[in-house]
Amino acid sequence: MDKLVIQGGHPFSGSVQIAGAKNAALPILAASLLGGAQVSLANVPHVSDVMSMLELLRGLGAEAGPLRNGRLSLSTADVVSSETTYDIVRRMRASFLVLAPLVGRFGHARISRPGGCAIGTRPVDLHLEALQQLGAEVRTEGGVIDVTAHGGLRGERIVFPAPSVGATHTAMMAAASASGESEIVNCAREPEIADTAAFLTAMGATIEGAGTHRMLVQGPTSWRAAHHTILPDRIEAASYLVAAGLTGGRLEVIGGRLEHLGAACHLLEAAGLSIFPSDRGLIAERRGALHSVDMATEAFPGFPTDLQAQFMTLMCLADGVSVIRERIFEQRFMHVPELQRMGADITLSGAAATVRGVPRLQGAEVMATDLRASMSLVLAGLVAEGETVVHRVYHLDRGYEDIDGKLTRCGAHIERVRQ
Ligand code: EPU
Repeated sequence: MDKLVIQGGHPFSGSVQIAGAKNAALPILAASLLGGAQVSLANVPHVSDVMSMLELLRGLGAEAGPLRNGRLSLSTADVVSSETTYDIVRRMRASFLVLAPLVGRFGHARISRPGGCAIGTRPVDLHLEALQQLGAEVRTEGGVIDVTAHGGLRGERIVFPAPSVGATHTAMMAAASASGESEIVNCAREPEIADTAAFLTAMGATIEGAGTHRMLVQGPTSWRAAHHTILPDRIEAASYLVAAGLTGGRLEVIGGRLEHLGAACHLLEAAGLSIFPSDRGLIAERRGALHSVDMATEAFPGFPTDLQAQFMTLMCLADGVSVIRERIFEQRFMHVPELQRMGADITLSGAAATVRGVPRLQGAEVMATDLRASMSLVLAGLVAEGETVVHRVYHLDRGYEDIDGKLTRCGAHIERVRQ
């Protein structure tokens, strides 16, 4: 398992190119199963979750070319299997996204039920209820979910009790392969949903209202070959904005988009950053001392849970007390004990963390536990006194493309030690 060794306190500035969004690439790759037509994608991030999804698709019989400079060609014409093994679902929960397209295309699919993970229990009931609403029969046998749509999926009205990004993707892909029109109400509004909808539209579906609370989805009579460019990763972009805030350096985040990061930029500005658009993305710099601000995570367009850990690192060095509330995932505070090892003053109470700013953090050996928690530790390492060693870097590699290369080019002293 690789580790990252970071020497803190070096000047940090320059520009960083943001990759395509992991959380759009994964459902889009899954959606490519729907038509069986040729797909070409651009701006696909070179991260290990994408590699796992490609492995899954190849295992089902898809032909996927190599991923080079973000470009990928893919054909799912020869897919015959609709069964996904536990090994891959265990490694990556997003594997579950292939369920709806497989049921839509073949009328039947089997997939292992995903377990809990480092950030919470993460049930899949909303995904399954959406499929049932479209006429599928769902059976669970010994940890395997078996879904059959006798005579195919049928367009219907799906009303979610609460917005879920993954279940909205499932409902949208299932509805696009159903006969007739579907209405999906109280869906998630994340930009990645609209990106997947754009891809489905390029393949021939008709989708209205993607990115709002209510979508109308109608599948095509036949799927067609499609090209799609994946939108930039807003969480990667915001993670680098936080890096600028922590280090005090001026950073251009190429590909960062204000319209995807409204709530995050608002709070980062309240904390003492200036963020403004450039021709290529966003420029961030710090105005002076960092200020404590309270934050609560919410579904889009609120402050993203995927940025909670990184924002907490910023608050560790701000000049007061910040209360951070996690409202999406019940256990998403695994970074707290690790930040405490670096000298952070954080008290946890249920879903709230009270962060009292300290003048400095000290380098330490810390353990990455999930993707975003790991990034918060790397960010802390950039400004901590002395050396920080982040173990289990494979968590970071799941969603941050070339993390050590990008940070090094901005001046960070960071070395990957392969073990
Ligand atoms: N939920 C249910 N039942 C379901 C599905 C979700 O109760 O069937 C609950 C979850 O337990 C959670 C809430 O609904 O409390 C929202 O979860 P959501 O379904 O929106 O999350 P997800 O689709 O599993 C995606 C991202 C996550 C990101 C969340 C929230 C992908 C592949 N993953 O997960 O990304 O945190 O949305 O924005 O898109 C990450 O990139 O680090 C990451 C964890």
